[in-house]
Amino acid sequence: MKSVFFGAVSATALIASAVHAEPQAEVLHWWTSGGEAKSVAVLQEEFAAKGGTWTDMPVAGGGGDAAMTALRARVLSGNAPTAVQLKGPAIQEWYEEGVLADISAVAEAQGWADVLPASIAGHMKCEGNWCAAPVNVHRVDWIWANADVLEANGIDMPTTWDEFNAAAEKLQAAGVIPLAHGGQAWQDATVFEAVALGILGPDGFRKAFVDLDMDTLKSDEMKAVFDQMRTMRGYVDENFSGRDWNLATAMVMNGEAAFQIMGDWAKGEFMAAGKVPGEDFLCASVPGDGFLYNVDSFAMFDVDGDDKKAGQDLLAELIVGQNFQKVFNLNKGSIPARTDVSLEEFDSCAHLSAKDMSESSDNGSLLPSYAHGMALRGAQSGAITDVVTAHFNSDMSSDEAVNMLADAVANSM
Ligand code: BGC
Repeated sequence: MKSVFFGAVSATALIASAVHAEPQAEVLHWWTSGGEAKSVAVLQEEFAAKGGTWTDMPVAGGGGDAAMTALRARVLSGNAPTAVQLKGPAIQEWYEEGVLADISAVAEAQGWADVLPASIAGHMKCEGNWCAAPVNVHRVDWIWANADVLEANGIDMPTTWDEFNAAAEKLQAAGVIPLAHGGQAWQDATVFEAVALGILGPDGFRKAFVDLDMDTLKSDEMKAVFDQMRTMRGYVDENFSGRDWNLATAMVMNGEAAFQIMGDWAKGEFMAAGKVPGEDFLCASVPGDGFLYNVDSFAMFDVDGDDKKAGQDLLAELIVGQNFQKVFNLNKGSIPARTDVSLEEFDSCAHLSAKDMSESSDNGSLLPSYAHGMALRGAQSGAITDVVTAHFNSDMSSDEAVNMLADAVANSM
């Protein structure tokens, strides 16, 4: 067993204290849907092939809220998992608690700085050291549609919100649920930020959800965002409350609903069910400019034991590995974080994502997703989402909503 291990992890053998141990990792993640499970299995298999023993700690719940609650409990009880799906400013928040391991030795040995875009690398660093390993780039601002349902109703993919609303009215009259949605706070936030990007535009989005500019939060444009949310509340079915996101995707798959606004993990779901993009389902970015990115990554927690440290080094090395980044992302619906992975085997939605990401990076409209924890610290994004959900689930006016939004953000700072 030892000799297999030695050969397999030669690149991490520079970590002298860990080389004699067999890699172990307890991995906390929230990838439990069909497409997600298929994706994380790629990492489990690569880890096992290199002699690692993986202890799975899946915590179901889209968007990861439940996983983050479980993480807090584990860390507070002094028993942190070895590796954790963690992203955005939460990485730095945990680093400030003094509980993250430094993975710079692996990152430097593997030349991460040369293969990751600076915008992604920035999220993976804590005071100059590498403290997380990125797996992908998910785009959040997508509309997914059932191709047959649109065709049968003479509808094209909408390119403006007015077109979206007109299509929805037509579908509703024809007895089709226009918008598949799950009433969970993070899903409300996902739809809200996609609408906000479209209506506020990239600069307005940045002012509102990156800079937390009060004038923008209370602006007439923000009222228009809440107006559109109110309109869309009329397009979801009456059983939407609490529904998981992948069940909403299934409604689009089986033609019960026409559209879903969701990140491209939804594509992972379509693909896992054998659906073909461009034939069975369609993808388009939401009306408006810009690109909302959501980078999944893993952070390693400070744990005792050479076997666990060896597990962390091996995981970090595999995660940013070229082959893993290709196969994982083919399943996950996202595109690789590495810039040197060929997209030849990827589908048309992934190509669109890569093209739009590079263009938006050049023209300053590449923006972090607030709803998926890339833009703000937890207290601030939580304050915004509370208002978005309260508005969506009541008859609150847009005027009230923007005032409440500004107050909630001010109080969270
Ligand atoms: C994560 C995705 C995940 C989705 C649904 C997002 O926040 O970045 O990896 O598939 O939530 O759980």
